[in-house]
Amino acid sequence: MTEIIQKSRDDIEIMRQAGRIVAHTLAMVEANVRPGITTGELNDMVDTFIRERNAIPAFKDYQGYPASACISIDEEVVHGIPGKRALQEGQIVSVDVGAIYDGFYGDAAATFAVGKVSAEKARLMDVTRSCLQAGIDKVRTGNKLGQISAAVQGLAEREGFSVVRQLVGHGIGRKMHEEPQVPNYGFPDDGPVLETGVVLAIEPMINMGAYEVKTMPDGWTFVTVDGLPSAHFEHTVAVTDDGPDILTLL
Ligand code: MF3
Ligand code: CO
Repeated sequence: MTEIIQKSRDDIEIMRQAGRIVAHTLAMVEANVRPGITTGELNDMVDTFIRERNAIPAFKDYQGYPASACISIDEEVVHGIPGKRALQEGQIVSVDVGAIYDGFYGDAAATFAVGKVSAEKARLMDVTRSCLQAGIDKVRTGNKLGQISAAVQGLAEREGFSVVRQLVGHGIGRKMHEEPQVPNYGFPDDGPVLETGVVLAIEPMINMGAYEVKTMPDGWTFVTVDGLPSAHFEHTVAVTDDGPDILTLL
């Protein structure tokens, strides 16, 4: 258990550059998501795009992870390993990207529709995006971390979906994973008070069915136990006394 690191204004400006590279990378991916493209092709595009911007793909070789993006389809929740699999019309695909720029990390994710998807999958994506925003809206100096968690959980469950418990968001800075953990469930009074300069990766993973997840034999890919789809949105957000400063925006 280490302490929560507060970043200086200069640190946050560097993190904004890292975050912007991540945001542009996700926009590039979104423009290329279509039936027939393989997850490996998308990963290669991510790797090239990040390196062309003088940054380093943060996930490649992280604890042995073999790729530069995590690409997770339908019932895959997070940490899907890209490869020869081609996207198909009607799937939803979650893409998670990290970059290191000048020593600092940016981390963001989004879920995209492949062609036309069912109304229920579209609603899952919309609600998950709104859950992330509801959490971000609680980011302010003096608020409790649990206000973020409770806001995410409250919205997800009011909409009839469930919140993954086994995986959480995190502090971020010169390391990808710093204190504190950022659960997507809990009570408004839980956790530490948010101080100015703390930077959080808030990343709700919301399931259409039950919240339980398990790991596949590849050792990385998390899937829902009931096989129903899951969505994931993530931003890197700095705490200020005027509220959230989202660092992974275009
Ligand atoms: N956004 C994910 C996380 O914060 C990305 C890590 S994937 C890994 O944990 F492959 F790098 F492990
Ligand atoms: Co993250």
